[in-house]
Amino acid sequence: MDLIHRIEAATMAIQALTPSKPKIGIVLGTGLGMLGQRIESATRISYESIPHFPVSTVDSHAGELILGTLAGKSVVALSGRFHKYEGYSLKEVTFPIRVAKALGVHSLIVSNAAGGLNPDFAPADLMVITDHINLMNDNPLIGVNDDSLGPRFPDMSEPYSNALIGLAEQVAAEEGIKLHRGVYLGCTGPCLETRAEYRFMRIIGADAVGMSTVPEVIVAVQAGLRVLGFSAITDLCIPDALEPADIEKIIANANIAEPLLTKIVVKCVERM
Ligand code: HPA
Repeated sequence: MDLIHRIEAATMAIQALTPSKPKIGIVLGTGLGMLGQRIESATRISYESIPHFPVSTVDSHAGELILGTLAGKSVVALSGRFHKYEGYSLKEVTFPIRVAKALGVHSLIVSNAAGGLNPDFAPADLMVITDHINLMNDNPLIGVNDDSLGPRFPDMSEPYSNALIGLAEQVAAEEGIKLHRGVYLGCTGPCLETRAEYRFMRIIGADAVGMSTVPEVIVAVQAGLRVLGFSAITDLCIPDALEPADIEKIIANANIAEPLLTKIVVKCVERM
């Protein structure tokens, strides 16, 4: 079945379960995991019950769509995301974004955990993403293009909405939360990067590095969505001062960043 019919089937199955008409999509990546609990009048739909949705091969309860109200706005949250390093194609990774668009969203908020390449960053800091670099050596738009989903050659001069970046910075200032701005570099993983790779990434203009987000944002931009993205800086990737990655510390820093990022996102949603 071609992509457009898979999107239609998934969208109709969701619409049969809820009258919700979401306007904002939120990918609950690292740093926003608890946001799903803040959604009111929520309808929760497990990914495995939605036709054509990718499902986790390791844990069938890993993903769900949460439709409801957040800060007075109708939202759809994607709780559980798929990564290329798990073996999914970028078409599978980005299918939920296509469905969010078909459900009616005009804007997408994404978050991730990232390593800090900018020496001004500290662990547990937050960054609003101003631009990205795709080093995944892949692209979710490769293949036959259905023009009804978006253009063959989508413009990438402002993938992250300047207006939404400004809103996020205003909200962070009002809340007294430090918010860096910077360029996110997406690579596939799953191994972390070498010192030589971090040096290269910094030289080419990246402030943070991670293994997600870029494919979802490419599809969101092609679909005409406004995008707002955040990174929770979970560890520092400074080549000359590199320490072995410590997954416990990475999780601890994500947990420190999470309530602050949640606060920023809720206030942004309120004003979007
Ligand atoms: N690389 C390095 N550090 C990280 C990453 C990454 O992809 N994600 C979170 N911390």
